[in-house]
Amino acid sequence: MIVNGKPYRTIWLHPDNNSIIQVIDQRHLPHKFIIEDLTTLEEVCTAIKEMHIRGAGVIGACAGYGMYIASLEGKKNQVSNIQEFLQLAGKKLKATRPTAVNLEWAINRQLAKITTLKDDINSIVENSAKIAHIIAEEDVDFCQNIGKHGVKLIEEISQRKQGETVNILTHCNAGWLGCVDNGTATSPIYEAHGKGIKVHVWVDETRPRNQGSTLTAWELGQQGVNHTIIPDNAGGHLMQHGLVDIVITGSDRTTYTGDVANKIGTYLKAVAAKDNNVPFYVALTYSAFDWEITDGVKEIPIEERDPREVKYIKGLHDGEIKEVLVTPKNSHAANYGFDVTPARLITGLITERGICEASSEGVFSLYPEKNK
Ligand code: MRU
Repeated sequence: MIVNGKPYRTIWLHPDNNSIIQVIDQRHLPHKFIIEDLTTLEEVCTAIKEMHIRGAGVIGACAGYGMYIASLEGKKNQVSNIQEFLQLAGKKLKATRPTAVNLEWAINRQLAKITTLKDDINSIVENSAKIAHIIAEEDVDFCQNIGKHGVKLIEEISQRKQGETVNILTHCNAGWLGCVDNGTATSPIYEAHGKGIKVHVWVDETRPRNQGSTLTAWELGQQGVNHTIIPDNAGGHLMQHGLVDIVITGSDRTTYTGDVANKIGTYLKAVAAKDNNVPFYVALTYSAFDWEITDGVKEIPIEERDPREVKYIKGLHDGEIKEVLVTPKNSHAANYGFDVTPARLITGLITERGICEASSEGVFSLYPEKNK
C-alpha cells in the first residue's frame, strides 16, 4: 500500500543483501516511519514477541522468513546437526506468540520441506528462501481476493442506501500493516474506495496497544479513506442509532467450526451487532484457520501480555515518543490479548475463496479438501 506516495509492503528482503529481512517497525507509528533490519533468528523472535510487527498475516510471513534466516545461521556456523538446529529454531519462533495460528502454520510449512532435505544445507537455504517468498506472495494474493469478494457486501449496502456513505466498524488493525499488503478486513474497504463507493470507517482505538487509533487510522489516512477513531466502548451506542452498516474484523485463529479468535474486545462488538441486527463479518485467509479444534472458546490459547501495556500509554510529546502511567502505580492490571467470538454471532467469513457461513458446513464448502 501507499506510504507518503510510495508503495510498500510490511516485510521484504533487503534489495542489496538477501540475508537481511526488512520490516516496518510498527511500534513507532503513526508518529515515525521506521524500517528495521532483522539479521538473526534472535532478532526475528524479538520483533514478533515485542510487536515490532504484529497481525496474523505478517506474523506468518515473518516466521517464514525467520526459518530462512535460521538456515543461513546454521550454514554460517557449520552446525553439525542442521535438522535438530532448525527444529529448535522452529520451537523458538513458535513460542513468541501463542494465538495467531499463522505463526505455527508458516513454521510447519517450512519444516515439512526442510525435513526432506536431510543435511543438504545449500538446498535447505535455497528452499527455505523460496517457501518464505511463497508465503508472503500468497498472503498478498489472498488478501486481494478477500477484497474482491468482500466488496460485494459493501456494494449491496451502498445500493440499498442509494449511494449514501456506507459506515463500517472495525476493531484492532486487520489492515495491510497486519498482513503483507492490502489487509484482511480493510481489503474490501480499499476495494470499495477504489471503485468510488462512499465509505466511512469507525476505527475502534483497541486498548491497550491501540492498534486501531495508531495503525488502522494511519493506514486508512495514507490511502485517503474517510475514518473516525472511537473509544472501544462507543460501538454499541453507534449501532443502536443506526450509524453502523456492517462490522468487519480480522482473525488470528478461526476454528473450522467458525469460532473466531481476534483482538480482545471483538466479542463484545459481535454481541452488540447481534443485538442491533448489524451484519458482523470476519475476513481471513486460509492460513488463519485451525483445522484441528472445534471449540474456540475452550481450546484457542489466549495470549496474556505484560500488564504494563494496560498501565502505561505511549504518545508523542515535544517530538519524542514517551510512555506515561495512567493508573495508580500499585494497582494490578490484567492484559488478555484476544477473545473468542462464537460462530453463532458471526454473519459470515470473507476468505480468499469467497464468503461462507461461520460453520463447518460453510467452511468445508470453500475448502472441501479439508473435509476428511
Ligand atoms: O496483537 P496483534 O496486534 O498481533 O493482534 C492483531 C489482531 O488481532 C488482528 O485483528 C488480526 O491479526 C487480524 S488481521 C491480520
